[in-house]
Amino acid sequence: MNKKRVGVLISGRGSNMRALVEACRDEHYPAKIVCVVSNQPGAAGLDFAKTQGITTQLIDHKAFDGRAAFDAALDKYLQDQMLDFVCCAGFMRILSAGFVKNWEGRLLNIHPSLLPAFRGVDTHARALAEGMTHAGCSVHFVTEELDGGPIVAQAAVPVLPGDTPESLQARVLTKEHPLYVKALALVASGAVQMARSGRPSA
Ligand code: GRF
Repeated sequence: MNKKRVGVLISGRGSNMRALVEACRDEHYPAKIVCVVSNQPGAAGLDFAKTQGITTQLIDHKAFDGRAAFDAALDKYLQDQMLDFVCCAGFMRILSAGFVKNWEGRLLNIHPSLLPAFRGVDTHARALAEGMTHAGCSVHFVTEELDGGPIVAQAAVPVLPGDTPESLQARVLTKEHPLYVKALALVASGAVQMARSGRPSA
């Protein structure tokens, strides 16, 4: 099987990255994780990736003079890996328009809300404050618009009485892992592509 080459960008724990790595062990899964890149030196996910024999790379944004220089270094590293797709998985950096353009249609992100609701941060606290009955997560193509790219797949969970942002986050996270695995399979297999209009097409 001609597996698509995928790089994963993380900043911390890396549980979504881990789910992708584990899915890729299946010989029938259409992708393989070629590298895991972190912008944070202490990202726990790097340790897991190393134990799996996956190439890891630290590109510390603090070592660069501004966003453009960091994004250029990240882009160069990823291009050198000959990747088909890049998955942001808890990657806490906003990527510049030039970077996004270079990876158009090949750059995915997972966001812990039912987009287009609750773009940005503190999604679970905001969902509770708004009295939502459901929360969830979305995998979307990354475009210049923050958390605004075409949605590939979503999963919902109920908001339960007594929920805190932490309890809701934990419930949503259980849905994130299988959702990202499913979404990457859809994109890597060619079943879903980002259309020129910016909307996903089957
Ligand atoms: C996830 O909730 C993801 O949706 C958000 O950041 C968190 C990352 O968790 N973008 P992990 O590092 O994958 O465990």
